[in-house]
Formats: sequence, C-alpha cells, structure tokens
Amino acid sequence: MPEIISVVGARPQFVKATVVSRAFAAIGMKEVVVHTGQHYDEAMSGRFEAELGMKNISVNLTVGSGSHAYQTARIMMGMQDYLDQLPNPPKAIVVYGDTNSTVAAGLVAAKNSIPLAHVEAGLRSFNRSMPEEINRVTTDHLSNLLYCSSETGVKNLAAEGITRNVLDVGDVMLDGFLVFREEAKRKINLQDIVALGNDTPFCLATIHRPSNTNDLARLQSIVSALGDVNLPVVWPVHPRNKAALKSIDIPCSIFCIEPVGYLQMLVLLDACASVLTDSGGLQKEAHWAQKPCITLRSETEWTETLDGSWNVLADPERESLVKLINRTQHSPWKMLYGDGNAARNIASDIVDRI
Ligand code: UD1
Repeated sequence: MPEIISVVGARPQFVKATVVSRAFAAIGMKEVVVHTGQHYDEAMSGRFEAELGMKNISVNLTVGSGSHAYQTARIMMGMQDYLDQLPNPPKAIVVYGDTNSTVAAGLVAAKNSIPLAHVEAGLRSFNRSMPEEINRVTTDHLSNLLYCSSETGVKNLAAEGITRNVLDVGDVMLDGFLVFREEAKRKINLQDIVALGNDTPFCLATIHRPSNTNDLARLQSIVSALGDVNLPVVWPVHPRNKAALKSIDIPCSIFCIEPVGYLQMLVLLDACASVLTDSGGLQKEAHWAQKPCITLRSETEWTETLDGSWNVLADPERESLVKLINRTQHSPWKMLYGDGNAARNIASDIVDRI
C-alpha cells in the first residue's frame, strides 16, 4: 500500500521524480510512481526509465497523444480508476513541473481530497498562450504543499495570494545533474551520439515548443538561422517535429539526430560550446554546465539565468544568432537554484507534514 504516489508522464519528469524517489527511499517512505503514458516512445520514455533505474513505476495509464483536452481527461479518468482500486487513499500525491500530466493528476488529487505536493511550484512566464502556463497556475492553486526552485517562485505565488506551505527548496534538476554527470561521462562517448571529432566545437540545439514549431514558416526561419551559425549545430529532434522537418531544407551544418537519453544529453552539454533552446530544463542545465545559452523565446520562467547574460532571450527571425553566440560579456558564473539537495528537502518536508 503506497503512502505517496508520484505522477510522471513527460521526458523531464522522469529525471525530476527519480531523485525525489531516491530521497523517499532513503528515509523509508513507501512511494509508487504512476506513469501517465503521455510520452510513450522508447526514446522519450522507456530509455529514461532504464538509465535512471526507475524501478518503482507501478502502473502506466497509456494515454498517449491527442488534444490537450483528450490527454488531460484520459489521465484524470485513469488516475481516478487507479485510486479507486487501492484499499486506502495515499497520504499525498506528488506532481512535477507543468505538463498535462501534472495538471490532470493535480485535479484528481484535489477532487479526492488527497494532499497535493507540487515540485517546481511558482514558475511563471506570464504568457497565457503557453499551455504550460495554464498548467502551472492551475496546479499551484490546487496544491497543498508547494516546492519552489528559487525565491522568485515564492514571490510569484505570494503575488497570487498563495503563502501557506510554500518553500524554496532548490531545484531537483540540479540534483539530477550533479548525480548523473560523472556517470554519463564514464559510460558514453560523444562519437556514439554524433559523428563529430572530440575537439570540434559545436552548438547544441533543442526546439520543440508549439510557438516555434507549429507554424511551418516560423520553423523554416529558425532552421535557416541555425544554418547561419558559424559552428556545426547538433539538434536532437523531438518526435513532434519530425514530419514538419521533412518538408524543410536542412543546411548541412545542422546534424539532426534522434532524441537522446538523459545521460547522452549530459555528454552533449559537457562537450558543446553553447546551447540554443526553447526548453525550460535545458536553460538551467546549460547554466550548471557553465555554457552560454540562447533561449529562442520572448520570455523565460527561469529569470535568474539571464543575470550576467549567461542566458539571453532571442527571436531568430529578428536577431543574428551568430552575434549572440559570439558575445563575450559574462559576469562571473555563480550557482543557481540551490545546492543539489532539493529532493532531500522535499522528501523530508513531505514526511513531516503528512
Ligand atoms: C510536453 C509538455 C512540455 C514539455 C515536453 C517535454 C505539455 C502541455 N507539454 O510537450 O511542457 O516541455 O513534454 O518533452 O504537457 N510524441 C511522440 N512520441 C512520444 C510523445 C510525443 O511521437 O512519446 C509526439 C506526438 O506527435 C504528440 C507530440 O509529440 O502529439 C506532442 O507530445 P505531447 O506530449 O502532447 O507534448 P510535448 O510537445 O512532448
């Protein structure tokens, strides 16, 4: 009988939940993980479970892809069925980040009066056209325990009147980065991921946000901006973009590769000269790897990364990526988002409160 249920579904959530699961196990808390099945490809899900050693996934709701309404509704129905067959409700449900899996599981927890803990609470882009922003705001307002990655999250929640049980615990992705970085270097060679010489400088790119990829003309201009970069660009392509990229001419300096696992991503990060991304997680990981980052968005939730211009926001349709990549003005690097003990802080706080 689980005391805690953690819910995951999309690629980055496997990393976040793994470190928290380890922290629960270390203090003897019985936890099971429910996989919603939002991500289902081996490259997006199975590989992560294997390399992170996620052995506590007890059920897969196999919801798959669909509209946001379909996905959210199917996860809610699957979660309710799962809870209904348990002899007793869990003492808490833990959700991560801002995906459809997060908000759907959060709604089910709230409607069953099960305490809801939200990891990565309080993030705001203040852009309601992002599906993730709707998911974040809703989940935070449903949550009983709110774990922020920095003081910015605490302030954002206070501005919305949420002040009870809000803690700045640091970022669980930093825990993962520190735990798995050495293992990644030990186990994986750069050449196993991409055909580039060890000393060849390159930019690492990931682009998957609907705002950058749903409109073919926009995606086309991002690709041509990447082609103008004066270094090879290595781009692990999210499955959502494969079809669209087939209809675009890809310059030969861009190496489009299959989606990579977490350890491969850490190796690419370590080897690259700089990062071009619209991912939230990769902005932070670039910072921890001390790599300059260009974020292909008009705003970021991770505002601290902008300090000292380690990360800059850019619209590739209007700005030269080359100029931004070659920028030299960085203030001294400093650690952001805690000290790598976020998972331990979260697990011990949950255990104290339930
Ligand atoms: C989701 C999250 C996003 C997160 C990203 C991490 C939401 C609203 N968005 O976006 O915040 O940054 O995960 O990767 O929850 N697909 C496959 N195989 C898979 C999964 C997806 O082919 O295993 C394709 C399908 O065509 C699907 C599309 O990708 O329709 C989008 O997948 P979806 O889970 O809806 O959102 P993501 O773009 O992955």
